[in-house]
Amino acid sequence: MDQLSGGSMSNAAAVSVPVQLPGPVQIPLVGWRTRGLRMLGDPAEYFMRQYARYGVVSAWNPQNPRHVFAFGPEYLKKIFAEPEVFIADSFREVRIPEQSSFYRLTNGLLRRNGDPHRKHRRLMQPAFTARRVLVHRETVADVTERCLSDWRTGDVVPMHDALARIIMLTAMRTVFDIDAPAKIDRLQGLISRLLRVAASPLTLLVPYDLPASTFRTALRTCEEIEALLLEMIRERRAGASAGRDVLTSLVNAVDEDGSRLTEAELVGEAYTAFCHDSSTATLMWTLLLLDQHPQLMNDVVDEVRAVCGGSPPDDEQLGRMPLLEAVLKETLRLLPPAPMLIRYTSRPTPFGRYQLPSGAMVFFSSYVTHRLEEVYHDPLRFDPGRWERESPSTYEFLPFGAGAHNCVGRHFAMLEMKTVLAVLLQKFRPALVPGTRVDRSMRVSLVPSHGLPMRLLPRGARTSPAPLRGNIRDSVRLP
Ligand code: HEM
Repeated sequence: MDQLSGGSMSNAAAVSVPVQLPGPVQIPLVGWRTRGLRMLGDPAEYFMRQYARYGVVSAWNPQNPRHVFAFGPEYLKKIFAEPEVFIADSFREVRIPEQSSFYRLTNGLLRRNGDPHRKHRRLMQPAFTARRVLVHRETVADVTERCLSDWRTGDVVPMHDALARIIMLTAMRTVFDIDAPAKIDRLQGLISRLLRVAASPLTLLVPYDLPASTFRTALRTCEEIEALLLEMIRERRAGASAGRDVLTSLVNAVDEDGSRLTEAELVGEAYTAFCHDSSTATLMWTLLLLDQHPQLMNDVVDEVRAVCGGSPPDDEQLGRMPLLEAVLKETLRLLPPAPMLIRYTSRPTPFGRYQLPSGAMVFFSSYVTHRLEEVYHDPLRFDPGRWERESPSTYEFLPFGAGAHNCVGRHFAMLEMKTVLAVLLQKFRPALVPGTRVDRSMRVSLVPSHGLPMRLLPRGARTSPAPLRGNIRDSVRLP
C-alpha cells in the first residue's frame, strides 16, 4: 500500500521535488464540511475506507492538501517527533468564544503547546504517576462495590449507563473528593448534558449563541460547571482540603520557578482530568468481547479469583493479572476509544516526499494503525495472547496517543479499569442479551450505540457467545 501510494518516508530523502499526495478527484461543491460530516458519522469506517483507497498517507484535496490523513507508523513518528510543527488544538473547529466558560473549561493540556504545555505537564504529572495513582485504588473499589450492591442476578443491566455511573462517581471522588449525593447529582446532570450537546454535529455546524441552539446550551451548562469548579478550587486554596484528590494536588503544585496554576488554568486542567469517558468505553467493549469469547472469560475470571480471592485487588495484586491486562490491551487495540486524533501544522513542512502548507489539519487514527497487516498478525482477531508474541512500537500501538501529548491519565485508567473488572467479574457473569444490535457510534468516545444490555448471570455460569447484529462485525471477527 505504501509503495502504491509512493508514500514511504524511507524513500523520501532521495526525491527533492514535492509530490502530490494521493487522494480523490475533486467534485465541485463537495467541500470539507460535507466530507467532515460523513466522517464524523462513523470515523472508524471512514478512515478504513480512506486507507484502503489511498494508502498510509492521503489528502482530501491533493492539489491543496489542507486535510491530510496519516496512518503509517513512519508518518506518526514524524508527527509526534515534531510537536512544535504538528500542534494540538482540540476544539479549534468548534469556534468557542475566548471569553466564555466553555473556552476555559476546554482549555486544558490538549489545547496547549510548547513551553506552556511543558509547564502544565510538569505540574500535573506528579498526580498521575503509576505509584501515585495507587492512592485511588480503594476509592475505585469502594465505588464499584457500592454501585454493584444494587445489582441482582437475573437483572438486565444497560451496561453503558451502569458503567458510566461507576466511572463518573469514581472521578467525582478521586478528582474532586465529592461524596455528597446532592452535589454528585448536580454535577453529573450538568456533565451529561454537556457531553450530549458537545457531541452533537449541530454544535460544530452552528457555533452561535442563538436561542434553542445546542451551542447556547453548551455555553450555559459550562457556566454552571465552571462555577462549581471555582467553588472547589477556592475551598482548597483556603486550605479547606488536605485530601489526596487530583484537584488538591493541582492546586498545591508549584513549578521550579515558584509559579502555580491560575484559577482559570486549574478549571481547564481539572475538567480535562475529570473526563474519564474513555475508561467507560473500554470497559463496555471489554465486556462485549469477553461475552463473545466465553473461554477467555472463564480464564480471566479464574485468574482474577486466584489472585484476589473474592476481594478487590490490592496494589500488588493489580500487577499480577497478566491475562486481564492483555485483554484490556487487545480491546484498546481493536476498539480504541479515541479512534481519531488531529494535529495542525504551525508552518509549511515536508511530510515524507510531500509538502504540507501551514494550517493543514492532519488526521490520524489508532483504529486504522492497529489494523495494519504488516504490524499485526490476523489483525481483526481478538487475541489477547498476541501480546506475548508481538511487540508493536510506540507508533504502532497508540490507544493512549504518543509524544508530548500522550495520555497523562493512562496509569489511572488502567488502575480504574482493572479494579472495576476485578470486582465485577468476581460477583457476576454479564451476558449480552441475544439478538442485540451493536453498532459503533462516535459520541465523546467510540461506544456501542444501543447501550449494551447485559443479563447478570451467577459468576460461575458457563455461556456461549450471544448472537448479535450490527457493524461491530466489521471491526472484529466474532464467532
Ligand atoms: C482507557 C482510557 C483512556 C484512553 C484510551 C485515553 C486516551 C488518550 C489519548 C489518545 C490522548 C492523546 C490525545 C491526543 O494526542 O490528541 C489522551 C490525552 C490525555 N488524557 Fe487520556 N485516555 C484515557 C483515560 C484518561 C484518564 C482516566 C485521564 C485522567 C485521569 C486522562 C487524561 C488525559 C489528559 C489530561 C490528556 C492530555 C495530555 C496532554 O495533552 O498532554 N485520560 N488520552
